[in-house]
Amino acid sequence: MNISFFNNMYLPHSQVSISPDDRGFLFADGVYEVVRWYGGFFFDMEGHHARLRRSLHELKIKWDGEDLFPEIAEKLVRINDLGDKPALVYFQVTRGAAPRTHTFPSPPVPPTAYGFAKTFTPESAGRENGIKVMLKKEMRWARCDIKSVALLPNTMCFEEATAAGFGECIFIRDGYLTEGSHSNIFFVMDGTIYTHPESEAILSGITRKNAIRAASECGIPLEEKAIHVNDLPRITEAFITNTSAEITPVTAFNDMPAGNGRPGPVTLQLAGKFREIVNSYSRL
Ligand code: PDD
Repeated sequence: MNISFFNNMYLPHSQVSISPDDRGFLFADGVYEVVRWYGGFFFDMEGHHARLRRSLHELKIKWDGEDLFPEIAEKLVRINDLGDKPALVYFQVTRGAAPRTHTFPSPPVPPTAYGFAKTFTPESAGRENGIKVMLKKEMRWARCDIKSVALLPNTMCFEEATAAGFGECIFIRDGYLTEGSHSNIFFVMDGTIYTHPESEAILSGITRKNAIRAASECGIPLEEKAIHVNDLPRITEAFITNTSAEITPVTAFNDMPAGNGRPGPVTLQLAGKFREIVNSYSRL
């Protein structure tokens, strides 16, 4: 039986019931996190916890369980007997249930907090062989730095990309490549790694931060600088990063090969270093 977290209770999943007046349902007025359990430890829980706090703060949602996120996540893993398996914990907090108004409820209502853990099979084909990505004009909002549950443009674009045989959709804003529908993106050009700087145009990915750390530990130059679509013919490698896919090589943009169209040496070196960083969490 799957046990979920719901408003300070651990319940069989089928017993979780959320009000139709919940602002998450009515307005997508909420935030979420996805953190990965490597069969014995979480990877960079501190980073995920800090980002959850920031997202809540940006939306002015005061959830009294905020400090307890790491404990709740671990309990979800254990209670579902996933201790020794690869798993993902999904966690979401909305502003709560209140009569529908565009203003935030005053006085505030208790937020709705919901989380679950599920085992997952890390996808290896993409990580080994690379994926082709579709390019698409940005159609999301101007606060992509907030990990909001309002993901309709992300799901629409990812759906379009997968239906056309691509592994991710990458957004282009004012000519610059920002990030994917659920990943960040990096490029290699003239021996330097480039990725979009932290800004309101991208989510500050936890895998992104650790990939930057991996580059520094490998002594590979890295600049947080956006790449223009016109520079794509000059890049020699590209890769995407996220919690479930770690570092995944990109082999083509639409029908244009990325570099020589195969996973490149810088990407593979970084993926190896990233694995070392992940494993270092098992010893903490
Ligand atoms: N998505 N950018 C976007 C828009 C994302 O949705 C994600 C992650 C990332 C990468 O972040 P991280 O490295 O912290 O996973 C970047 C998660 C995995 C999801 O929505 O399921």
